[in-house]
Amino acid sequence: MPDSSPTSSALGLTADQVLTTTRAVRRRLDLTRPVPRELIQEAVTVATQAPSGRNQQQWDFVFVEDAATKVEMANLWRAGLAHGSPDEHHGLPLPTRGSFASAEWGRIRGSLGYLVEHLHEVPVLMIPVVRVASRAELRTVHGQAHNWGSVLPATWSFMLAARQRGLGTCWTIGHLAYEREMADLLGLPFDTTVQVALTPVAYTIGTDFKPAQRADSRTFTHWNRW
Ligand SMILES: Cc1cc2nc3c(=O)[nH]c(=O)nc-3n(C[C@H](O)[C@H](O)[C@H](O)COP(=O)(O)O)c2cc1C
Repeated sequence: MPDSSPTSSALGLTADQVLTTTRAVRRRLDLTRPVPRELIQEAVTVATQAPSGRNQQQWDFVFVEDAATKVEMANLWRAGLAHGSPDEHHGLPLPTRGSFASAEWGRIRGSLGYLVEHLHEVPVLMIPVVRVASRAELRTVHGQAHNWGSVLPATWSFMLAARQRGLGTCWTIGHLAYEREMADLLGLPFDTTVQVALTPVAYTIGTDFKPAQRADSRTFTHWNRW
């Protein structure tokens, strides 16, 4: 996989293989191998084909390689994790398909602990943002659907294209309690750009990722009515 010819570095996975093996990579991020910008640019080029509301392509990706900035980003991310989720569930049961007591969640917790320790060492950190006229657009479900729908598909396309190129990513939202501080750090205009995630970007250690356990697809599927 020579760095000088990124197009030859694709793993040659089928579309379904990419879709079913793009895992949340934490422990298997290669912290030692630099990621060429051209490879990232290729994945962004693929992502530009994602759908967006009114075809406005309102999304931007901010990639950070600078070591000192990554340290500050990781500190905000850790502070955000410690802060916890501000969401109110009002004591109602979570609409969940998984169990937080499962072995799978134990595995995720362990792997998250690894990311907490090493996030600043990942070669590249990426924050996807959506441009808005004003944050007031997020007050309605329609406004949210329009804006999230105009950045999340492109973000996932980037992650899939990265996987095809031997790179690993992990969707996280931990830092968003400190979104404004992150915006200040990165020079993002807070009123007109909304951050939606933060992902490490690194070569993976090995490329043999497998489909994960998921509930039977029929339990997700409704025909004609709920
Ligand atoms: C909206 C969203 C928020 C997430 N937040 C975090 C996070 O803050 N930290 C983290 O390590 N993983 C986070 N994840 C990753 C999930 O844990 C991961 O997608 C899920 O466990 C499935 O992983 P798998 O595809 O490797 O099986 C998030 C994923 C999504 C879609």
